[in-house]
Amino acid sequence: MTDQALAVDQQAMETQPQGLVVNSLTHRYGTALAIDRITFDVRPGEVVALLGPSGCGKSTVLRSIAGLIKPQEGTITMGAQRLDTMPARTRGIGMVFQNYALFPHLTVEENVGYPLTCQGLPRSERRQRVAELLTLVRLDTMARRLPREQSGGQQQRVAVARALAARPNLLLLDEPFGALDRALRFDLQVEMLRLQRSLGITTLIVTHDQEEAQSLAGRLVLMNKGRVEQIDTPTAVYDAPKSLFVNSFIGQANQLPGIIQSAGADHSIVRLAVGQKIKVPRQVEFVVDAPVVVTCRPEDVTLVSGANATTLPARVSVAIALGPTLVHELTLADGTEIRASQMRDQSMRPGKPGEAVFLSIDTARCHIFPAPAGSSLSSSPSH
Ligand SMILES: Nc1ncnc2c1ncn2[C@@H]1O[C@H](COP(=O)(O)OP(=O)(O)O)[C@@H](O)[C@H]1O
Ligand SMILES: [Mg+2]
Repeated sequence: MTDQALAVDQQAMETQPQGLVVNSLTHRYGTALAIDRITFDVRPGEVVALLGPSGCGKSTVLRSIAGLIKPQEGTITMGAQRLDTMPARTRGIGMVFQNYALFPHLTVEENVGYPLTCQGLPRSERRQRVAELLTLVRLDTMARRLPREQSGGQQQRVAVARALAARPNLLLLDEPFGALDRALRFDLQVEMLRLQRSLGITTLIVTHDQEEAQSLAGRLVLMNKGRVEQIDTPTAVYDAPKSLFVNSFIGQANQLPGIIQSAGADHSIVRLAVGQKIKVPRQVEFVVDAPVVVTCRPEDVTLVSGANATTLPARVSVAIALGPTLVHELTLADGTEIRASQMRDQSMRPGKPGEAVFLSIDTARCHIFPAPAGSSLSSSPSH
């Protein structure tokens, strides 16, 4: 083996990605519980997205991993090493925030090289590494510019290059594209995926944007009110949500309130508040009379011309053609609003406002969840 090949091999060994394990992380700001026993892992080289509404504790998890705050309970390990007991600067983490956080008075190359200057890397090596990084994020022609002479997307790529400069074991991204417009976000997401794939770096990204999470991450950690609700691949989360929260947060979910009429071995029959009965494959066991919500995705609701035993009568509120799909907003007899979304074809006629139609629901794809506390149905006693 040549010396050069050996050097490359050694570098590859050093940069062999490691996995991150977060175990039972709990943090309070004062007395307010921000995150509550958060447990998940990121496998070596994997991209995981922490996803949830604003205020659910995503940044608190990220800041704990980075060492910017000290959580009261739980452990964080990377490979065989405990991270949470180490000082922030020795954890080997690169971090990118929403607001770029570049030094305004430093040029692009000085910004990217800053962590290397701090590490005391010799000037020549530093220059070479910075040039490589700028090529990687396709900004090699902008080395001498100041951040204010760049667009938002370019500044964010500088921030990514800077985060990668010290060859971190773990890349943390907190709403990295949140300040950018939609088209640019998509370009940067594609760019980020390319970069991550080529480097194979273990990556945790925080976002409140479900599309961003689904396009970037192999697995999603769904958070709500400081807790983990579900950890799964994007498709598993979409097809088999474990809670009403997840069902409604990822994609859209129509909600039909009802009461369990019978709970069989493979089906539950729900008496909907609107009057009809609906038979849904059993996912969890419910007791008879339990107040529940049956959910269905808009794409699983179809407008049909004739009534039968399983259709629901409805009235069209509005029909909207959205590119390839035709979306109907409808109202059931009891006032429940429901959305239907179908791929448009030539023969399809959009419903007129006020028109009476019938809905066929693909019950095999429905889910049943306990009625949320405080809803009108949940106030009735369940046995
Ligand atoms: N420095 C802080 N001091 C007090 N409360 C905070 C602080 N940072 C965040 N919080 C609170 O902790 C909760 C979680 O916040 P955060 O982790 O920033 O959520 P997210 O990133 O999901 O929007 C929120 O209720 C927020 O108001
Ligand atoms: Mg945040």
